[in-house]
Amino acid sequence: MKTVKDYIRTIVDFPHEGIMFRDVTTLFADPRGFRMAIDQMLHPFAGQEIDKVVGLEARGFILGGAIAHQLSTGFVPIRKKGKLPGPVISEEYQLEYGEAVVELHDDAISAGEKILVVDDLLATGGTAAAGIRLIERLGGEIVGCSFIIDLPALGGRKKLEAMGMGVETLCE
Ligand code: PRP
Ligand code: ADE
Repeated sequence: MKTVKDYIRTIVDFPHEGIMFRDVTTLFADPRGFRMAIDQMLHPFAGQEIDKVVGLEARGFILGGAIAHQLSTGFVPIRKKGKLPGPVISEEYQLEYGEAVVELHDDAISAGEKILVVDDLLATGGTAAAGIRLIERLGGEIVGCSFIIDLPALGGRKKLEAMGMGVETLCE
């Protein structure tokens, strides 16, 4: 019986030399693999009240859409700077070299809404932490953060747990 990890492919030296890129497109392309990943991401949150699923660009959109459909909730995207058409709030975060900005529509979440945050991979946690700050600025209450892959050496889980987040991952 294959596990979620068995469907993930590694591309060496992408996008830069020295990076082992964990490619989930092979997981998404397989009907059993994709369903297994969605089911396993949902499992820890069974029975919990969730109003909206927030997905982080780009692969968090694919996961978040499927999870929101399964939960019958709304889906809200957090996008890289300049991609959302309406009024936004922004947060900066550190990349390996330099900085990046993520944005959220300023009316996408109402105060008190229960939010599940999803993405494919947790590395330094910089992207997710910026997303969490955006959601909390609108008064969203984060129920948990769910990722397929954790790269523990990069410290993302510790960073998010230090922000008071519950972090669920399927594999390392
Ligand atoms: C990857 C991944 C996460 C982020 C994790 O996205 O999908 O969103 O990096 O890294 P971090 O924990 O160190 O922040 P990427 O920045 O490659 O953007 P993309 O999904 O738009 O390609
Ligand atoms: N984002 C940051 N590090 C990554 C990796 N090794 N594979 C895929 N996405 C990433």
